[in-house]
Amino acid sequence: KIKDIRGEDEGLSKVGQQLVIRGWVRTVRAQKAFAFMQVNDGSNLSGLQVVIHPEAAGYDKIQDGTVATGAAVAVEGELVESLGGKQKVELKATKLTVVGESDGSTYPLQKKNHTLEYLRTIAHLRPRTNTIGAVSRVRSALAFATHQFFQSKGFTWVATPIITAADCEGAGEQFLVTTLVPQNGNAAGVPTTKEGKVDFSQDFFGKPAYLTVSGQLNAEVFATALSDVYTFGPTFRAENSNTSRHLAEFWMLEPELAFADLKDDMACAEAYLQHVVRYVLEHCREDLAFFVERQKKGLPKGEKNVVERLTDVANARFAHVTYTEAVDILLKAKKSFEFPVKWGADLQSEHERYLTEVVFKGQPVIVTDYPKEIKAFYMRENDDGKTVAAMDVLVPGVGELIGGSQREERLEVLEKKLEDFKLEKEAFWWYLDLRKYGSVPHAGFGLGFERLVQYVTGVENIRDVIAFPRAPGLVDF
Ligand code: 4AD
Ligand code: MG
Repeated sequence: KIKDIRGEDEGLSKVGQQLVIRGWVRTVRAQKAFAFMQVNDGSNLSGLQVVIHPEAAGYDKIQDGTVATGAAVAVEGELVESLGGKQKVELKATKLTVVGESDGSTYPLQKKNHTLEYLRTIAHLRPRTNTIGAVSRVRSALAFATHQFFQSKGFTWVATPIITAADCEGAGEQFLVTTLVPQNGNAAGVPTTKEGKVDFSQDFFGKPAYLTVSGQLNAEVFATALSDVYTFGPTFRAENSNTSRHLAEFWMLEPELAFADLKDDMACAEAYLQHVVRYVLEHCREDLAFFVERQKKGLPKGEKNVVERLTDVANARFAHVTYTEAVDILLKAKKSFEFPVKWGADLQSEHERYLTEVVFKGQPVIVTDYPKEIKAFYMRENDDGKTVAAMDVLVPGVGELIGGSQREERLEVLEKKLEDFKLEKEAFWWYLDLRKYGSVPHAGFGLGFERLVQYVTGVENIRDVIAFPRAPGLVDF
């Protein structure tokens, strides 16, 4: 891989070695006496420069235009010191093989900088760009660091189901799962009744089922058996929202801690975030430097770039405020908000961003103890009878990154809660059983993985930090 060739010293220690690289041509520049090619295999940001002279086998493929932008090539040659330009080394080709041709004149990724909006329309080719390539590598590193953190702390990973009848958040933002049936003896379609209406009796073999909004309730089952567990996978929300922070399909990390309260939960969230941030600072230097460069244009004077911000996060404690304190701060703020601030109303993302960006100057903030009416039924009620042991972690540029809580472990309180929220007790019989048989204080949180990638890279739109975004109008492949 080109990444291994470049290594820690830009490749200088490998000068003189015979090497083979395989990748895609980013640019070709034919001079009179020789040609330059930039080739990238996606293992790193910069790729490798290739110089090729007429005596090299395959040189004619450059002259006749077969090797164009987008073509897949294999190049054999000697790594030499580079005399000009940005790179320290380059590959002096002895043999160039075209693996897959590309029509450079119609290739949708021309040299110029494309907008991210345009790139979303060619989701099949955008991983070949610097931005999506860098995002993908950082995302992969974050996923690795996530497993590393929880595994090293003795958590067991549990794969919770994607299809379920439960609505964890009780917000009704679910997608229904339907069985397609052959119609007119051939093509499958949505089942209909004799009257031509959608036949819901076909839902998941006769029972209504949905795509999960959260694996939490299933994770609680395992936390009350295996102690600390985590689930990490895709979750779905049928919210028809066109924001830069919402997707219909997103990945969520959900640890669930047994014999734990809200303080343990917050400490876990903080230690986790610090771990993954340190990991990418150490292992994704070139990609992060690219994001810093990319941010430069839009960054207001005096504002910290992603790497400065992440370095702060890796070393500093998070700020803590209660919801009630946060509301007081917002009421006294000089800024006028679009949505009114009022005790009892949920914090809007403009409020969340103001807290973390302005009041706490870029520090992550944990807001705790929200009014029980605006949070989910499973959160543990505080002694004041008005608030629950909830916590949200807010970060600059993103707003809510994490939502979590201590869970209601008291059977009678939980039963009352289900009633208050007009949820069917029968549907939660298994969840209530966990409170009947060996109930323990437990707590957990959910982190929106794409929001984490946004936070770490500074990429503005959530649609650009997932391989194939799912949002209104984005579902083709
Ligand atoms: O706050 P939420 O809804 O919490 C839960 O689902 C809990 N059951 C989690 C738990 O305690 N185990 O979602 C958790 C996080 C949010 O803080 C946000 O980062 C992300 O998931 N999130 C979304 N990310 C992208 N697109 C969406 N539509 C999202 N909705 C929530
Ligand atoms: Mg939330």
